[in-house]
Amino acid sequence: MISQATIDAVKDRVDIEDVISDFVSLKRKGQNLWACCPFHGEKTPSFSVSPAKGIFKCFGCGKAGDAITFVEEHDGLHYLEAIRYLANKYGIEVEEEAKTDEQIQHQNERDSLFIVLNYAKDYFQETLLKHDEGRSIGLSYFKERGFNEKIIDEFDLGYSLDQWDAFTKSALAKAYSEDMLEKAGLLVKKENKKYDRFRGRVIFPIHNISGKVIAFGARTLKKDAKPKYLNSPETEVYHKSKILYGIYQAKQAIRQMDNCYLVEGYTDVISLHQSDIANVVASSGTSLTDDQIKLIHRFTENITVLFDGDTAGLKAALRGVDMILEAGMNVRVIVFPEGEDPDSYSRKLGTSEFKKYLAENTKDLIAFKAALFAKDAANDPLKKAESIKEIVGSIGKIPDPIKRSVYVKETSRQLDIDEGTLFSELNKILIGDRKKKDKGKGKPEHPDLPDLPAEVVEAEKKVSAINPKDSQAAQERESVRILINYGFNEIEEEYRLHDYLLEQLEEIDFITPIYKEIVDEFKKELAEGRVPDSHYFIQNGSSEMKSVVVDLISERYDVSNNWNDKYEIFVPKENDILENVVFTNVLRLKFRVIQQLILDNLSKMKEAKDFDAEEHHFKIHAELKKSEMEIAKVLGIVVTR
Ligand code: UTP
Ligand code: MN
Repeated sequence: MISQATIDAVKDRVDIEDVISDFVSLKRKGQNLWACCPFHGEKTPSFSVSPAKGIFKCFGCGKAGDAITFVEEHDGLHYLEAIRYLANKYGIEVEEEAKTDEQIQHQNERDSLFIVLNYAKDYFQETLLKHDEGRSIGLSYFKERGFNEKIIDEFDLGYSLDQWDAFTKSALAKAYSEDMLEKAGLLVKKENKKYDRFRGRVIFPIHNISGKVIAFGARTLKKDAKPKYLNSPETEVYHKSKILYGIYQAKQAIRQMDNCYLVEGYTDVISLHQSDIANVVASSGTSLTDDQIKLIHRFTENITVLFDGDTAGLKAALRGVDMILEAGMNVRVIVFPEGEDPDSYSRKLGTSEFKKYLAENTKDLIAFKAALFAKDAANDPLKKAESIKEIVGSIGKIPDPIKRSVYVKETSRQLDIDEGTLFSELNKILIGDRKKKDKGKGKPEHPDLPDLPAEVVEAEKKVSAINPKDSQAAQERESVRILINYGFNEIEEEYRLHDYLLEQLEEIDFITPIYKEIVDEFKKELAEGRVPDSHYFIQNGSSEMKSVVVDLISERYDVSNNWNDKYEIFVPKENDILENVVFTNVLRLKFRVIQQLILDNLSKMKEAKDFDAEEHHFKIHAELKKSEMEIAKVLGIVVTR
């Protein structure tokens, strides 16, 4: 672990302008610096850096944070990795917290593994480019496959001689220990024999997200030799299920294109790069894991899965990508013609034709599935039922209910099945899933109850149309914004805004955990006699807190400033109308809470087991409606009765 002293030293030393300038070229305009955003593709700059506040914010894509979060996001690093990077940049010595012997040994071993793996990479690369056998067999193989020198270099491709111990000899001569070679998966020991794992193969190094080599894939050049690809075993630094081939070379492009192509093989990744498509990673022939999906999710919400053109396996293969839906990501698919994979087809078509093919054949996963099954289902009721199950099964994996209902509508149109049927099928699946989950937690299941009176159903519809949850979250956000920006302002003598606001918030249960955390943290600091401001949260908050707070302090302010500058329009300073702002916010928040209570009460009414219980909730309903109306009157909002 890095010591807190080091982290503090880094935080004190960083200069956001200096840090970001290493990655993008900034231009000064007024108080701030501007550039085209490195996190999304754009032609006119909407990425701004405020040296005074120590923060950046993109008005295009919404990414925001301080110098440390910039490095985290830009390079896909974890917090401590970003700290290390910055410490290195500023020549700050990284002080390691006292570790146990075991931890030290563990760290040393990992470091040694990285070093020996890097040596192996250099060795294989050199063999490919300089050694006679490497050139005549390995290099000519790559050339034949159409790989150019630039790409061979970018992917650190190599060759291992067709001998038992050429690599081991060389490594031992460089004083690498046999033990380390074995732990790195480079040396195999079996029945008193020792030999190189990779022999007579072309080598594809596998890099981790920060570019260190952690393993190798090695392809035989002999016909019918098994296995075709021999891969490193799992080691201390290589966990197959957590890494994707090509992620290091792709991460920047994935973020810029806001999409990641997913292919099967090493050669697919490389060929696509050569076709000028850099946002691509490979699952290496196995099905995707949750960790791998999370890895991609760090850079984009969108995955496009490329399938080889063999229709037999397609339906099963499509099922394999449902778990990407479950992660809440958007999934698109592209299928290649029979007998082609992305590697072969990109070479066949050439760069521009291939790009055109991708653009024209990208299909939304659910829509694609629906079309695929629609063909089968056309005249066969049995197949139709099966198709519905299949497609609705996928839709059920999507966490967002709004997206789900859009897909139901779309599928209903494509398969010519009415929405009601699809929705009830979907509900069965959702309830089934929930029951499965609830069982684990030992929650009771509700027996089905008779239908509700019509007016209750109506009332529920009207109230839910407002979606109080969303509005409540928005008002919570507003409370936090006011608190952080103006908490210290005096409303009356000796009575500060935070006194009033926190007192009012006392009776409200926040539904958004991060806003609650910020308020709690604020209270904690107050209790210690300090009034925290935005800077406090950016310095000390969790990374989520930081990004929320940065958003909150840049938002409205920057807008009004721009208006002032550009159009010379007078925008009243929020400061001047602060009392009004905070009062309205509190009322709005209470208003939303009441609406939520109304909803909750209505659903309790729905579950009531007898008329007494139902009447009880009906009375509560009337009371709640009364309060709702009262607040609404003050706020000037019209509500339904
Ligand atoms: P493929 O058999 O489709 O290979 O396996 P490929 O990538 O098209 O390779 P070429 O074009 O024949 O050279 C897809 C991926 O599955 C993994 C590899 O990651 C490969 O790139 N694989 C395949 C293995 O790990 N071992 C094997 O024996 C075969
Ligand atoms: Mn291939």
